[in-house]
Amino acid sequence: MTTQTQATPTLGALAKFRGRHFLSDQDYTPEELKELLDLALVLKALRARKRVTPYLYGKHLATIFQEPSTRTRVSFENAMAELGGNMLYLRPGELHLPGRESVGDTAQVLSRYNDAIVGRITHFKVLEEFAQYASVPVINGLCSDSSHPVQSMTDVMTVLEHAGRIEGLTMGWLGRANGMCNSVMLTCTRLGMNVVWAGPEEMSVAPEVIDQAKANCELSGATFTMSNEPADGVKAADFIYSDTWWWVQQEDDQAEMDRRLKINLPYQVNAELMAKAKPGAKYMHCLPAMRGNEVTDEVIDSPASIVFDEAENRMHFQKGLLVALIGIDELPEDPDLQEIGRALLA
Ligand code: CP
Repeated sequence: MTTQTQATPTLGALAKFRGRHFLSDQDYTPEELKELLDLALVLKALRARKRVTPYLYGKHLATIFQEPSTRTRVSFENAMAELGGNMLYLRPGELHLPGRESVGDTAQVLSRYNDAIVGRITHFKVLEEFAQYASVPVINGLCSDSSHPVQSMTDVMTVLEHAGRIEGLTMGWLGRANGMCNSVMLTCTRLGMNVVWAGPEEMSVAPEVIDQAKANCELSGATFTMSNEPADGVKAADFIYSDTWWWVQQEDDQAEMDRRLKINLPYQVNAELMAKAKPGAKYMHCLPAMRGNEVTDEVIDSPASIVFDEAENRMHFQKGLLVALIGIDELPEDPDLQEIGRALLA
């Protein structure tokens, strides 16, 4: 369990979120993202007080997983259960996608049965097409070619809990750029957190992501810098993040895995690299971790590691997101639920 606690925030008006997709957090203003974080913190505090929160009683969530998952699947399923609704888990082979039925037809059909849909869809363009046809909110549950915004929002929630603020802090990313890296860089810069990327030239950040990170910095006052020197990623960082060097698409290609291992090994977060970090710097990882590659046991199992707080917070952030996007029609009778209820209706 997360050990540090935040003062419970006051909620703003949340009805503006109802019916919206969450394909990217970049579609939301920084103020809106902070409101979603506040909602997650209030829900987390209610749960800590053992209050049940059936805001979504009788509602349905469909989830489509083209790739495996532990956290995303279980945290969404338990989030929906704690909100009084239910979740359907659809694996490859359980839908007519891909090929036998169009993306658009599938999206329209699932929208008739469900109040929201989560997609772990490899290609972001397919998720965008799906959302164009869906008449209920569609949530990005990881598009590995692009982004993982529910994870990066959870990560800044975890930063907030540990540091008491987000703005003005520095996130250091070590190793190849991937969809997770894109989201961490974009969410952090949008919310005023400086980002330093330190990784191999061969697996660098895509130009469009650099442009968006810089645009975010112009608005938020954060900074975004890039380096191929591992120490640059940690020496100014308050939080240090690394992720896997390959994903399911590369797992059958030993030569490609060997190539990625060699390129990324200098950026491994180990005790030697952590010794160059600021005192008190925390280690973060979205998980699953390939221990011995992007992080060593001595770091991920150390007191500096907050990886399981991140994992826990997936459920709290997603509870807030589901409640905000699906919305409610009337104020709950339970007085404990009325603060969030009033905000959802406002
Ligand atoms: N971090 C994350 O998305 O984990 P899973 O792949 O287990 O869902």
